[in-house]
Amino acid sequence: MNRMKVAIDGPAGAGKSTVAKIVAERLGLLYIDTGAMYRAVALKAIQAGIDLSDQESLTRLAADLDIRLNPDGRQLRVVVNNQDVTDQIRSQQVTESVSQIATIPGVRAQLVKIQRRIAQTQGVVMDGRDIGTQVLPNAEVKIFLTASLQERAERRMQELAAKGEPVNLEELKNSIAKRDARDSQREFSPLCKAEDAHVIDSTSLSVSQVAEQIVELCKAHIGTN
Ligand code: DC
Repeated sequence: MNRMKVAIDGPAGAGKSTVAKIVAERLGLLYIDTGAMYRAVALKAIQAGIDLSDQESLTRLAADLDIRLNPDGRQLRVVVNNQDVTDQIRSQQVTESVSQIATIPGVRAQLVKIQRRIAQTQGVVMDGRDIGTQVLPNAEVKIFLTASLQERAERRMQELAAKGEPVNLEELKNSIAKRDARDSQREFSPLCKAEDAHVIDSTSLSVSQVAEQIVELCKAHIGTN
């Protein structure tokens, strides 16, 4: 069980990270949020004033950064060059820039190298867009987690409202749809379902129902091996 690899992919706001954290805890695996790594590169690029179309500089930046995901209870602290950026990487500015940075092959290659290295030494639940297809094609359990655009936007709106950041639902829907399109249509490692992934549509399921389904799939896998 402890060396098991679970890949959870899907579009923005489908609930991947919430569910992945619970599954990791239930199965005693390490949770790795790969989106946080792309966000960390985006944050540092913005801070350094690098043009988001300058692929060479962005690839060099990704190679030079020391990105760590440190478990802290149920959360992950994202630390870049010894600086805790856990909250900063969730800003609107980073969210708007990150999918552009994630199209760059050199940036992806750097981050995939780190992701594979982590999974080599321990069991993981890794969430992202290309985990089942590119990063861990041999993962024992692969999940493609989806939800309707309306539902994903409503969930995000509630999250932001809870943080005191009211937003317009239609604007949110447009921005999520734009990010989905960029993530699914990019040339390298686009968001897509691995052939052997289980599809779970979370539109009318609770977080615990989705987590339970994934834990059961993992247990069934262990039972047959
Ligand atoms: O999951 P998230 O919203 O934090 O991801 C941020 C961005 O990074 C998103 O636009 C897609 C991209 N991403 C990716 O291309 N590949 C991954 N494995 C994870 C995230």
